Amino acid sequence: MTHDRSLPTSWTVTIVRDDADVWAVRKVVRAACDKAGASLATTEALVTATSEITRNIIIHASYGEVLVGVADSPWGRSVVVRGCDQGPGIADTEVALRDGYSTTGSLGLGLPGARGLADEFELVSELGVGTTVTLWKHITTERKA
Ligand SMILES: Nc1ncnc2c1ncn2[C@@H]1O[C@H](COP(=O)(O)OP(=O)(O)OP(=O)(O)O)[C@@H](O)[C@H]1O
Ligand SMILES: [Mg+2]
Repeated sequence: MTHDRSLPTSWTVTIVRDDADVWAVRKVVRAACDKAGASLATTEALVTATSEITRNIIIHASYGEVLVGVADSPWGRSVVVRGCDQGPGIADTEVALRDGYSTTGSLGLGLPGARGLADEFELVSELGVGTTVTLWKHITTERKA
């Protein structure tokens, strides 16, 4: 289970460009968590983390897409959320993950917060190419689906 970064075989894709889309993505994540048998606490953690990476796409990259799916692996089941954009990219991902780092004068807590709420976290970004953030939340024996 530890470091399990299995990926779903299929995704639900949501195009995101404004606040209404944040709500749409939250709904998709809740449905995936429900299907996977996640507890309320697990669901809320992933919904919150998803909101942050979705807002980042809208604010820093204008638009992009958020993929949501359930992965099954020999270690268990996970709900996986992946945000992708072809925005400006991040020069230094390590710096961007520090508490309080923001290029827009905001709190700078979105990325570190999302990382803290996920079981596994991956941030891949290239300047001028775009950014992909992936969150995994493992479903333990919380509830039978
Ligand atoms: N999808 C993205 N594309 C380009 N840059 C990004 C993206 N996501 C994050 N960043 C960069 O990483 C920085 C840190 O992101 P983080 O979400 O932690 O803070 P923030 O969005 O500035 O503030 P907030 O606390 O309101 O989320 C951002 O200021 C921005 O420079
Ligand atoms: Mg943010």
